[in-house]
Amino acid sequence: MKGVVLAGGKGTRLFPLTKVTNKHLLPIGREPMIFNPVKRLVEAGITDILIITSTEHMGEIVNLLGSGSEFQCNFTYKVQESPSGIAHALALAENFAGGDRIFVILGDNITTQNLSKFVKDFSNQEKGAKVLLKKVDEPERYGVAAIDEHHIVKIDEKPDKPDSDYAVIGYYMYDDQVFDIIRDIGLSPRGEYEITQVNNEYIKRNQLTFDILDGEWTDAGTFESYLFANKMMMNFKDD
Ligand code: TTP
Repeated sequence: MKGVVLAGGKGTRLFPLTKVTNKHLLPIGREPMIFNPVKRLVEAGITDILIITSTEHMGEIVNLLGSGSEFQCNFTYKVQESPSGIAHALALAENFAGGDRIFVILGDNITTQNLSKFVKDFSNQEKGAKVLLKKVDEPERYGVAAIDEHHIVKIDEKPDKPDSDYAVIGYYMYDDQVFDIIRDIGLSPRGEYEITQVNNEYIKRNQLTFDILDGEWTDAGTFESYLFANKMMMNFKDD
């Protein structure tokens, strides 16, 4: 399996911290934010990693991460020319994936949990995709999963009336159908190519599994969650 870290976007909710600095370069605890998704991938045995960011910030991201030797991995880099959504960014990974399965992490998702067991489970899954869920306080901010005992029935993007407290968080595993699916989705009302639409297509095909991330996790895209992420990571040491 190969890894993809998405580090583009606008970062408007952290403005003016993100006026000149890419969100994923901001400090979390003692390290730049993007170290966390990279380290979680490497820890899970994924060492071919594509980093996607904007034209504006690619130079700084490459300066920070380099070849990958510091992290015991190999980085490939790709520019997303406009921040048109998570699925839009992911489409850029097609050649890199080269038919392999991919583990996609949103660069502002921070966790202390080792993700190896999820990667192993997905490797044993015949085909399709796997998402991770987390019980959250404000499900309206996320893609929310309606679940029966074993399946996600549907995912609603930022719903007014959430069906559950379970958010689909920024760790997604896909087989190579994902790129055809992205080609078929249109722009959402807010003008983005939405990953929720991609995941809903996997539900339609009966090929979406899920796991619950039970360890510490947060996104770091708002001031409140950014502060929480800093507290969470301040004393965390990778093995
Ligand atoms: P979001 O937090 O949804 O968007 P954003 O980072 O642009 O921030 P804001 O809403 O405050 O303007 O993005 C989630 C992650 O996905 C984030 O780590 C950046 C990444 N991303 C991309 O790589 N490309 C994109 O086009 C978008 C929208 C997000």
